[in-house]
Amino acid sequence: MNPRSILRRRRSLLLSAAGAAVVLAASVAVAGTAEAASTLGASAAQSGRYFGAAIAAGKLGDSTYTGILTREFNAVTPENEMKWDATEPSQGRFTYTNGDRILNQGLSNGSKVRGHALLWHAQQPSWAQSLSGSALRSAAINHVTQVATHYKGKIYAWDVVNEAFADGGGGGRRDSNLQRTGNDWIEAAFRAAHTADPNAKLCYNDYNTDGVNAKSTGVYTMVRDFKSRGVPIDCVGFQSHLGTGIPGDYQANLQRFADLGVDVQITELDVAQGGNQASIYSSVTRACMAVTRCTGITVWGIRDSDSWRTGENPLLFDNSGNKKAAYTSVLNALNAGGPTVPPTSGPTSPPTSSPTTPPSAGACSASVTLNSWSGGYTATVKVTAGSAAVNGWAVTVNLPAGGAVTNAWNATSTGTSGTVGFANVSYNGQIPAGGSTEFGFQGTGSGPSATPTCRAS
Ligand code: XIL
Repeated sequence: MNPRSILRRRRSLLLSAAGAAVVLAASVAVAGTAEAASTLGASAAQSGRYFGAAIAAGKLGDSTYTGILTREFNAVTPENEMKWDATEPSQGRFTYTNGDRILNQGLSNGSKVRGHALLWHAQQPSWAQSLSGSALRSAAINHVTQVATHYKGKIYAWDVVNEAFADGGGGGRRDSNLQRTGNDWIEAAFRAAHTADPNAKLCYNDYNTDGVNAKSTGVYTMVRDFKSRGVPIDCVGFQSHLGTGIPGDYQANLQRFADLGVDVQITELDVAQGGNQASIYSSVTRACMAVTRCTGITVWGIRDSDSWRTGENPLLFDNSGNKKAAYTSVLNALNAGGPTVPPTSGPTSPPTSSPTTPPSAGACSASVTLNSWSGGYTATVKVTAGSAAVNGWAVTVNLPAGGAVTNAWNATSTGTSGTVGFANVSYNGQIPAGGSTEFGFQGTGSGPSATPTCRAS
């Protein structure tokens, strides 16, 4: 299907979706929304979600690979580059070169970056494998602290602990050197990560937890306990390395975790190629779209030839980078819409730095894209620097009478109705010449119809 017919299809899907909750993407002062909806990332963004890919630093020189990456995806996960063996190859010596490559690739494309993974029984450096007891515990917590501190303010969500539960019927923990340091190692890791980077969402991530089963129920019980005791956990990742089927209760499983008060994310999706690959991809996407707190989906690689599952062709693009049927099924499921994700995602912090010089008019511009429904909307505002770099920005939006801003993210707001001001937060005030950043807000009534004004310093 060419982009135009995809667009027509999307429009007809939207318009035929009866009822008050029809999500109508309206663009104000932004050219290209129609084109944007023909990519995975832009389609997911219409409901406040992201669509990401695991990427490898060693492939960033491949133009087919980076072409698909920058066109289609608005989130990235390092496939290996932020793991313990990569970031602390000898004890106390930290190497971030490749992790930073992934980070910068993502940030320069305006993408979210998922950090993966602070602690895991696999891909530990050999020095850690040979430690035990309190020496291992303190080395592990130091690792969490150092790596989360290095990436502070830049990571959307961290897989703090990966794959700590056992397969099989018991629903208990996996035996590992980390587990042998004491059952509280997971909460100790989450507390250390929260101290190091209070704005990153902190996730527990695992596989074979994609339906309601003993293992996922073990994780569920841990998350419920963490929430009840105030252990800082924000999200649960479901790897979703799937074969030729999908659990019938996939969506119900996501929902039961969401009901505990955490976000849920599909973190490593790949599906064995078979007759039903496209429909399984579609089912996973529709399940996420149906769960309000399912904030995004990540596929574990771009082309089949990039996959760790050699020979299974489990991804959305073939070896040459062509879109597969599975790609189209995902795109259609994203474009069919679903409840908008509550706009709390992404690092949100009180302003810790404000522009030191008052913003001056004209050095930046702003444009708004609206996702509207009957009685409300979310607005994504793109702030673009002019020919000079910007060190802080302030955007003014005029709202129609009767409406009010209820929530803002990636910006601070002043006022709620009439003329509403937004200013950068600590991590997004600096925009390079010609570059851009985005913030958002949710409101009641109708969204703004005029182009906002931007002042920069
Ligand atoms: C895999 C990578 O894709 C491979 O390149 C590497 O050799 C092994 O790890 N669960 C996870 C991921 O959490 O980190 C794993 O990634 C796949 C399974």
